[in-house]
Amino acid sequence: MNNNQELHIAVNQNIMEMEYAVRGPIPKRAAELIKQGMTTIPCNIGNPQAFGQKPISYYRQVLSLVEDPSKIARERKLNTILKHNIDALSGLNNTDFISDHVLNLSESFLVKTEIGLGAYSESNGPLFIREAIARFIDKRDEVDTSHGVSANPDNIFITNGASEGARRIIDLLIADKNDGIMIPIPQYPLYSATIKRSGGVQVNYYPDEDDGWSLNRSILEEALDFAIKDGVNVKGVVVINPGNPTGGILDEETIREVIDFAKKNSLVIIADEVYQENVYGAEFVSFAKVLGDEKVPLFSLHSISKGFIGECGHRGGYLEIRNPPKVLGNDVSFIDVILKQASVSLCSNTVGQLLVYLMVNSPEEGSAPYRQFVEEKQSILNDLYDKATMIREGLNQMDAVECFGRTGAMYLFPRLNKLPEGSTDFDYCMNLLEKTGLCTVNGSGFGQKEGTHHLRIAFLPSKGLLDRVLPEWIMFHNEYVNK
Ligand SMILES: Cc1ncc(COP(=O)(O)O)c(C=O)c1O
Repeated sequence: MNNNQELHIAVNQNIMEMEYAVRGPIPKRAAELIKQGMTTIPCNIGNPQAFGQKPISYYRQVLSLVEDPSKIARERKLNTILKHNIDALSGLNNTDFISDHVLNLSESFLVKTEIGLGAYSESNGPLFIREAIARFIDKRDEVDTSHGVSANPDNIFITNGASEGARRIIDLLIADKNDGIMIPIPQYPLYSATIKRSGGVQVNYYPDEDDGWSLNRSILEEALDFAIKDGVNVKGVVVINPGNPTGGILDEETIREVIDFAKKNSLVIIADEVYQENVYGAEFVSFAKVLGDEKVPLFSLHSISKGFIGECGHRGGYLEIRNPPKVLGNDVSFIDVILKQASVSLCSNTVGQLLVYLMVNSPEEGSAPYRQFVEEKQSILNDLYDKATMIREGLNQMDAVECFGRTGAMYLFPRLNKLPEGSTDFDYCMNLLEKTGLCTVNGSGFGQKEGTHHLRIAFLPSKGLLDRVLPEWIMFHNEYVNK
C-alpha cells in the first residue's frame, strides 16, 4: 500500500445492511438544509426536550443534588434562613427553594448507593433501585398478597435506555441464521435493525390498520405459519404497546390472545411498554399483569425517555423478566447470561439509574413536591394530546389521508391514499421537508403493507409551531397529491 491509498477492511455485513429510518436520509437532508440556513421542524423522532419540553423540576432538583452533594447542606441552610427571616430572602417564593423532602430523598439516595454517581455500580443496577422498580410494577399492576404475581428484583436489569434491553434479548435469542423474531409491521426500527445485526430473520405480522391497528391471534398464527413454511425457527414475538409508529393501544383481551399464542407455540414475548404513560382515551394494561402465573417467558421494557419524563439523553430504562427460560443443552438461566452480557459493559450509566429510580418513585400525595410534580406532569400530557388533536384536524383537511386508531405514544401514522404516479411516501416526505421544513419519516422506514403509503409524525412541536406549519403542510399536500 502506498501513502495515497486508503485502507479497505472487510466488515460485518449485517451492520452494513442495518437500517434506521428515524435517523435516515430524510433527517440527514434536514441537517444539510439547516446548514444552508433553513429552519426545520424535527418531527422524525420522539425527543420531547428537543422541542423545549421542560424537564420535571423534581427530577432535576434531585439530579443536581446527587451530582453535587455539597449543595444539600447549602440548600438546608437557605431553608433555615427562609424559615427564620423571610425578609432576608424577599422576592423569592417557595418554589425557588428545594424542599426538605427533596433534600432528604437526595441524601438517602447517596447513602443507599454508598458510592455516589461517579463509580461503577452492580452490572444489573443497584439492588435498592431494582427493588423500587419491582414495587412500582406491583403497584401499577395492582398486585397484592391475594392477587397477581410480584416482580422479582433479581430478574430486573437497569439499562442505558430500553434499546439496550431489547438488544440484549435479541442478541441472545438469535443463535442461528434461521432463527426468527416476529415483529409488528409497521414497527420501531430498533427491532428490524437489531434482528439484522444479529443475523436472524425478521418475521412480519400485520396489525389491522382499518380496525384501529387491532391485533388478534389469527394475524399472529398466519405470520408464524408462513415463517415455518419458509424454514424459519421462530423464537419470540415483539409487541409494542402503545405502538410506535401507530399509536395503537392493545386491550386486555388482545394481550391475552398474544400470551396464548406464545404459549401454544413455545415463544418468548418481548413487550416494549416504553409509552405506557402516553395513553389517551384508553387504559394501559401491562403484559406482566395479564400474564399472571402463566409460564410464558416475558421480557418487558420501560424507559425514562418517554411518557411525561422525556429524559431521552440521560439514557435510562429497565428490562424485567418473568419465567426466564433455561439455555438449551445447559442448565444456565437466561438471567445469568444476561447478567454476563451486562457485566461486559460494567454497568449502565448512573445518572440514568437515578432517573429510573425517580420514575418509579413519584412524590406521594401530601408531600412537598407533589403538587408541582402533578401539575407539570399533567400539563405535559395534556399538551401532547392537544397537539395530536391539532395534527389530526390538519390531516382531515388533506385529500385522501386517513389516520386510524386511538391516540397513543407520541406519533400519528396517517395513510396517504393518493400519491402522484410513480411517487412514494419517501418522495412525499422529502418534498414536504424541502417545501415546509417539516421533517417526518416515510412509512416505508417502519415497514407497511405492500401497496400502502404512510408517514410518521411525532406530535411534539409547540402549538405555535403547529399553527404555523399545519396550513403550509395542508397546502403542500393538496398540491402534491393532485399534481
Ligand atoms: C417503541 C420504542 N422502544 C424503545 C425506544 C428507545 O427507547 P430508549 O430511549 O429508552 O432507548 C423507542 C424510542 O423512540 C421506542 O419508540
